[in-house]
Formats: sequence, C-alpha cells, structure tokens
Amino acid sequence: MAWGAAPRSGAPGPGRAMSEAPALALAQVSCTFVDKNDPKARYTAVRDVSLTVDAGEFVSVVGPTGCGKSTLLNVAAGLLEPSTGTVQVFGRPLAGLNRRAGYMFQAEGLMPWRTALGNVMAGLEFRGTPGAEARVLAEDWLRRVGLAAFGARYPHQLSGGMRKRTALAQTLALDPDIILMDEPFSALDIQTRQLMENELLALWQARKKAVLFITHDLDEAIALADRVVVLSAGPASHPIGDFAVDLPRPRDVAEVKTTPRFVALHAAIWAVLRAEVLAGYAQQLEQAS
Ligand SMILES: Nc1ncnc2c1ncn2[C@@H]1O[C@H](COP(=O)(O)OP(=O)(O)OP(=O)(O)O)[C@@H](O)[C@H]1O
Ligand SMILES: [Mg+2]
Repeated sequence: MAWGAAPRSGAPGPGRAMSEAPALALAQVSCTFVDKNDPKARYTAVRDVSLTVDAGEFVSVVGPTGCGKSTLLNVAAGLLEPSTGTVQVFGRPLAGLNRRAGYMFQAEGLMPWRTALGNVMAGLEFRGTPGAEARVLAEDWLRRVGLAAFGARYPHQLSGGMRKRTALAQTLALDPDIILMDEPFSALDIQTRQLMENELLALWQARKKAVLFITHDLDEAIALADRVVVLSAGPASHPIGDFAVDLPRPRDVAEVKTTPRFVALHAAIWAVLRAEVLAGYAQQLEQAS
C-alpha cells in the first residue's frame, strides 16, 4: 500500500531497525484543560494521541485550527505535561524539558535588544558554550541561512523573512536531534515562505534530524515531509490519518506541487481533512458564542 490511514504508530518506519527507538514517541497522550470561563468545566483538547517520529524522519502534522496541534508540540517539547499518556525521547521517558529538541514557534522569538548574531549566540551561551566558540558557530549558521552580512543588525532592522532565518539559525546552531516547529513560516509572504521551506529542506537533508512540523497548510505539509499525520477536529482530537509521502528528494517545494503524485496525495489527504476543517471552524464559532 503506497499510502493510507494506516495505524502505524509504534511500528518501525522504513530504515529503522526493530531495536532502534524512535526520536519521539507519544503514547495515548491526552490533555485536558480547565475552562478559563468556568473553573469547574474541563476541555479535553487531545485524547489518546499516539505519534512517533523516527530519528531522521520529517513528520508533518495537519489539522483544523484549534484542534490541538500546538498542545501536542508543547507536550513533545516538555513544556506541557500531558494529563495522561507517556512521552519517550530516544526510548527514555521525558521528564521536564526535552533537551534533545530545539523549538521554532510561530511567534517571533528573537530578543529585540540583541543583534542577529547575538540572538544566535544566546542559546549556545545559555547551554554553556564558551563565548568565542559560540561566536564562530553562530557566524557559521548565519552564513548558512544567507545572513552573513546581517549579523550586526537588530531584529527590527531585519525583514520578516530574515528574522525567520535568524530564528532557524538559532534553533539549528544548537544541533538538536529533534526539531519541533509550530507553523514557523505561516506569517511570511508566499515567495519568502517557499525560499525558507527549501532552505529548511536543504539543511535537513544535510543533517537528517527528526522533525515534527506543525502546519495547517496541507501543501506545505506534503511538500516537506516523509509522512503527514492528520488530526481530527476537537474536542478530543486524535490522529485520523497517517500518509507516507513517497515523493523523491531532494525536492523543490514549488516544483514538487506540480507533479501528478503530489496532486494525488493532496486529494487523498484532503478527503480526510476537509470535513475536520469544517467541523473545527464550526466548533470555534461555538466556543466564541
Ligand atoms: N492552557 C490552556 N487552557 C485552556 N484551553 C487551552 C489551553 N491551551 C489550549 N487550549 C485549548 O485547546 C485547544 C487546542 O489548542 P491548540 O493551541 O493546541 O490548537 P492548534 O491546533 O494549535 O490551533 P491553531 O491552528 O489555531 O494554532 C483549543 O480549543 C484551545 O482553546
Ligand atoms: Mg497552534
């Protein structure tokens, strides 16, 4: 079977030996929040979510707005403890922050009082890398993301795309084994976004980290990933589809979208996602009223 809503959680992925633990394994994770309007009420955002990302695998998660994508990423990052279920990182139970992971969130994460170089150096210094070494590494990463000439600029002196590149350099400079990304490029114009996506793919191709990439953009999810996981609308969101993306690499995100295989995959996944998007939208209107 080339693709399908296969229940593959826990099964070894292509190229993974039975004994090799996944980079990230969420098992039966549920997250229940206290309703901010009514302390007695509870809202279960995600329920019984099992999701694995193998070492070196690029997994996209798509789902309607408000379904629990960021919640799951926060669980994987160790920023949010699930109400029930377990998280394992390379076979070990996660306790506290996930130190094998680097995060890139949707919101601007740069420190406005530091230059681009200073921002990239910050994470390294925080981790205990000596200043001189941190500078060399940070300069190298700024060069790799095409910002060698912009290290001395402050965030407000950079374009939105440049700020995202700086954030990407900041995340990758730490050389994490797992990269967690929450709609990192959604605020960018389409051309800059495609450039950034291609840059991300090139950097990933070179170093093959495990990536968990959250997006609500199905085109982006397919173009980047080895696998696309579809979440249902909330409450109690859970995976309802798991599609292998068998498009050849290296990929150009703009070109790959014109291929018949991409179009077929898109149609198959959209058939599952469409009803959830409508349900998610209706549910948000209900929550707002
Ligand atoms: N700390 C919290 N307290 C109460 N409810 C929360 C909390 N965090 C998230 N929720 C609720 O859980 C649900 C999932 O939120 P989440 O941010 O994970 O969705 P999402 O899929 O990332 O949405 P979007 O696509 O809009 O970013 C939403 O209904 C949200 O209101
Ligand atoms: Mg979100």
